[in-house]
Amino acid sequence: MKNILVTGGAGYIGSHCVKRLVNDAYNVTVLDNCDVGHEVAVERASGGEAKLVQADLRDTETVTQTLRDNEIEGVIHFAALAQVGESVQYPLRYYDNNAAGSVSLLRAMDRAGVNRIVFSSTCATYGEPASMPIVETMPQQPINPYGWSKLMTERALIDYGSSNGGFAFAVLRYFNVAGSDPDAVIGEDHTPESHIIPAVLNCALGKVEKMSVFGTDYDTPDGTCIRDYIHVNDLVDAHVHVINALEAGDQRFYNLGTGTGTTVLQIIEAGRDVTGHAIPAEMGPRRPGDPPMLYADPSKIKNELGWQAKCTDIKQMVADAWGWFKNNPDGYGDK
Ligand SMILES: NC(=O)c1ccc[n+]([C@@H]2O[C@H](COP(=O)([O-])OP(=O)(O)OC[C@H]3O[C@@H](n4cnc5c(N)ncnc54)[C@H](O)[C@@H]3O)[C@@H](O)[C@H]2O)c1
Repeated sequence: MKNILVTGGAGYIGSHCVKRLVNDAYNVTVLDNCDVGHEVAVERASGGEAKLVQADLRDTETVTQTLRDNEIEGVIHFAALAQVGESVQYPLRYYDNNAAGSVSLLRAMDRAGVNRIVFSSTCATYGEPASMPIVETMPQQPINPYGWSKLMTERALIDYGSSNGGFAFAVLRYFNVAGSDPDAVIGEDHTPESHIIPAVLNCALGKVEKMSVFGTDYDTPDGTCIRDYIHVNDLVDAHVHVINALEAGDQRFYNLGTGTGTTVLQIIEAGRDVTGHAIPAEMGPRRPGDPPMLYADPSKIKNELGWQAKCTDIKQMVADAWGWFKNNPDGYGDK
C-alpha cells in the first residue's frame, strides 16, 4: 500500500500520523475541514509533502473525488469531534459529525472502491466496565454521546464489512493519548483543552493558575483516578502496522494502551519533575461520570500482530509533550 488518505490529519494525532507516513515514503492525502485542526500542522508534519484537501467528511461527493483523484488504497480515519462535555451539551452535533460523517466516508469508499480502513475508536465505548483491565470482548455501554457516536461507527463498519467481502477494517480503541513527536514541530493544540498533560504543562507556562484534582478518595494507591497513557508516536506506529496487515474480510478490534495505570497525582508530579515548575494543585470532590480506573489489557494486538507500545514511561511522555509546549507556548497560534 502506497497511497493513504488520513482524515483529521490536521489534528493532534492525525498530524503525527502524517509525519510518520511521509517519513516512511507513503503518498499522503489529508482530508480535514480544519474547524478544530490546523492547516499549518499538515505543512509542518510533512514538510509540504502531504496534500491537504480542506473538506468535510459529510461532503460525500468531494470525499469520493478525493479518493479517486489520489488513487487511495487505504484510509486512516481520525476525523471527529472529541470533547465529552460538549457531546453531552450538543449531542446531535456529535451524531451528525462523527457517526453520519463516518457513514458518508464509507459511502465514498464504496463508490470509489477503496477497501481498507483503520478507525479511531475509544475506550469511552466501554463506559464504566465492571472490572479491570479492559479486554476487547467486554460489554460496550458508553455513558456519553461522544462514546455512542464512536460505537455507532463501529457498528456501521461491522454491518458494511459483512455486506462487502472485499472490505477490511480495524477498530482501534485508544486509551489516553499523550506526548509529542520529539522534534517538537507538531503537538497538541485544542481549544478548549480537556486533557490532563496539556493542562499541567499550561500550568507550568503560567497560562493556567492551578490544577484541579477531582476526587482524592478513590480506591487507588493515592486516592486519585487512574488512566492508561500511550505515546502518540506508538499509537501512530500501531496504525501503520495494522493497515498493512489488513486482508479482505478482516474485522479487527484492538485496544491501544500500555496496560499501565497512572494516577492524576503521578501526572502532576511528572510535570513538576520535567518542567521544574511548582504546578500548584487544588484537591476537590469527585466529578460525576469519572470512572475510578480505566486501563487496557493490550495483549490482543500483541498476540495477533506482534505489536506493542515501546514507551511505558510517563515521564518520557510528559517530557516529549513539554518539548512542544515550551517551543510553542501559543500552540499553532492560528485560533
Ligand atoms: N486524544 C485522545 O486521547 C483520544 C483518545 C481516544 C480517541 N481519540 C480519537 O482520535 C481521533 C483524533 O483525536 P485528536 O485528539 O487528534 O483530535 P483533534 O481534534 O486534534 O483532531 C481531529 C481532527 O478532525 C477534524 N475533523 C473533525 N470533524 C471533521 C469533519 N466532519 N470533516 C473533516 N474533518 C473533521 C478536525 O478539524 C481535527 O483536525 C478522534 O477520532 C478522537 O475521537 C483521541
